[in-house]
Amino acid sequence: MRILGIESSCDETAAAIVENGSNILSNVVVSQIDIHSAYGGVIPEIAARSHIEAINPVINQALSDAGLTIKDVDVIAVTHTPGLVGSLLVGTLAARTIAIINNIPFYPTHHLKSHIYANWLSGHQPEFPLLAAVVSGGHTQIIYMERHDHFEIIGTTRDDAIGECFDKVAKILGLPYPGGPAIAKAAKNGDAQKYKLPIPQVSDLDFSFSGLKTAVLRAVQKELDLPITTPSHELATKLNEQQIADFAASFQYTAIKILIQKLQKASTIHPAKSILLAGGVSANQLLRDELTKAFAKTRQVYFPEPKFSTDNGAMVASAAYYSIQAGDKFTDPYSLDISPRSAIY
Ligand code: KG4
Ligand code: ZN
Repeated sequence: MRILGIESSCDETAAAIVENGSNILSNVVVSQIDIHSAYGGVIPEIAARSHIEAINPVINQALSDAGLTIKDVDVIAVTHTPGLVGSLLVGTLAARTIAIINNIPFYPTHHLKSHIYANWLSGHQPEFPLLAAVVSGGHTQIIYMERHDHFEIIGTTRDDAIGECFDKVAKILGLPYPGGPAIAKAAKNGDAQKYKLPIPQVSDLDFSFSGLKTAVLRAVQKELDLPITTPSHELATKLNEQQIADFAASFQYTAIKILIQKLQKASTIHPAKSILLAGGVSANQLLRDELTKAFAKTRQVYFPEPKFSTDNGAMVASAAYYSIQAGDKFTDPYSLDISPRSAIY
């Protein structure tokens, strides 16, 4: 089954063709990072306009890279929730129109489910039951899956997402958007033990990342001997390169520690055979290394190839394939709705 997967929920316009859930025939991603980095974050109105410009060329490129025409596609899959409304509208309208005109079965997917299924793209077949840590710019959740297409949220953030925290700490340190890769790069020259940052005490399997961001802010103010009323945008220019590297390393170390501790706790409660990382933050190499170490003797650990960690169309196609295989029905493209927020289903 060949599925055309379309993704436009945030700031990447992406389309891919994947055969039987894991054989990638093409994968095209046009990122808007260069546009939004000038503003230090994603501007929704600009994102939507950029998707409009990119969506048709990206879909055409995905077809031509695969050496196919639309007639060779068995299913059109698209992200319809959650995400930025204007961004979601562009991808879903394109997908619905193509499905209607060509009379191709249509299947909408949840963005977080797609991130999880990026793990099936590398040819691996993670064993169930499993725990998936969805760590992206908008979400931080631990999801328990007993089988395909079955999702139980067992832990979630009570405030900021972990990726959002990377982005906000990067801003404090004067590093560019997106903050995750910038922090990881700066941290390479830093001492992760230089600044002791607190691990938030949150009950159950839940997270809190806004306190960690504030802890970095206070530590920077203290390091520079400035009052806590000093606005964060005035701090970055006063830090030297080594201080930035040490703060980046200390923050990254703590954020990863928080996540791994909760995953270890989750694995004592839920009988998982595999641990999966999913979402943009799963591109972080230290997180991959530390997670592998933490579960080396007890569980099989999986993470997507780095290019499939962040938003792409291939993961959409893979998620759709396994849901359809599990018996899920197609959707009428005329009646599809989008939603900026929704729990994984
Ligand atoms: O999944 P994604 O592409 O978009 C959302 O669905 O949110 O994730 C984007 C997030 C951003 O917050 C970005 O800073 C973070 O993923 N990210 C990273 C790394 N690469 C991207 N965070 C930590 N380390 C990285 N190497
Ligand atoms: Zn995403």
